[in-house]
Amino acid sequence: MRLLTLLVLPLALAAPTHQSLDLSADNAPDAIDHLSEYFNLLAEKVRRYKVLDAPPECDVSKAVLPTSPDPLPVPDDSTVIRHVAIGRGTQNYTCTANATAAPVPAGAVATLFDASCLAATQPDLLTVLSHLAISYHPSPLPFASSSANAGFGDGPRPRLGPSDLEVSGVHYFTAEGMPFFDLELADAGSVGVAKNASSPAPGDAPVGLGGEKAVGWLRLLAPEGKTGKGGLEEVYRVDTVGGSPPATCNGMPETFQVEYAAQYWFMGKKE
Ligand SMILES: *[C@@H]1O[C@H](CO)[C@@H](O)[C@H](O)[C@H]1NC(C)=O
Ligand SMILES: *[C@@H]1O[C@H](CO)[C@@H](O)[C@H](O)[C@H]1NC(C)=O
Ligand SMILES: *[C@@H]1O[C@H](CO)[C@@H](O)[C@H](O)[C@H]1NC(C)=O
Repeated sequence: MRLLTLLVLPLALAAPTHQSLDLSADNAPDAIDHLSEYFNLLAEKVRRYKVLDAPPECDVSKAVLPTSPDPLPVPDDSTVIRHVAIGRGTQNYTCTANATAAPVPAGAVATLFDASCLAATQPDLLTVLSHLAISYHPSPLPFASSSANAGFGDGPRPRLGPSDLEVSGVHYFTAEGMPFFDLELADAGSVGVAKNASSPAPGDAPVGLGGEKAVGWLRLLAPEGKTGKGGLEEVYRVDTVGGSPPATCNGMPETFQVEYAAQYWFMGKKE
């Protein structure tokens, strides 16, 4: 009955475990547009689903990975979709005193919200919600550095904004600079990856809170011959929002963060 929860929960917008929508910032008009788009879509779905006997089945393996205009390589035949998450966090960059040099990427951190059921049953709602995600405060979400569970304890897990999407894990870079995804909180495994391919975000991808362009879409793979916990092998970053640095280091501090949101799709070995 996940669908019914999804449809009913928007009424509980002010519940304490939900992250707050930032309507005070410069992005308020965008946030309100995204929010009303979300509620309009929900209302339309409530009308449509009233005539159905049962909600559609949440089978994430049947979800369809979004494709970019310049498509990324497809997932390996031996894998199947295991988990889909909306990620909300920051891309980190460093700068030197050289004002004409480009900022250098220095990792990222994000909280991951379980969107697996949504990806399987309501892909249009998933798209709208991942765009809306940029308008939610990433803090005070606990960005656990090594284990997702450590940051959240046994209490109710935070949810993404007006949705019923619960935290399913965290994304961070290891001390060795390896992108890492920890989904143990959702019993969905964990995996360290390296970039296999990237593709620019579509031209109409939503910009970030300060008007930053969307970071590229990526295919990330577990290193050759390795498999993550739970059989995870591939991660796609798609439907990105914001996260890009300014073109040059002019006026930028030595380290800085740019807020972003994205969908992360996790593929694991077929069983
Ligand atoms: C500053 O960065 C630019 C662009 O990368 C480069 O061409 C130039 O040589 C750099 N200047 C110094 C002093 O490193
Ligand atoms: C990125 O920035 C965040 C926020 O300042 C910080 O917690 C995190 O450790 C940084 N990650 C990396 C890989 O630099
Ligand atoms: C990306 O992965 C494919 C296998 O799926 C491999 O053939 C290709 O060489 C990889 N490319 C890079 C740049 O790692």
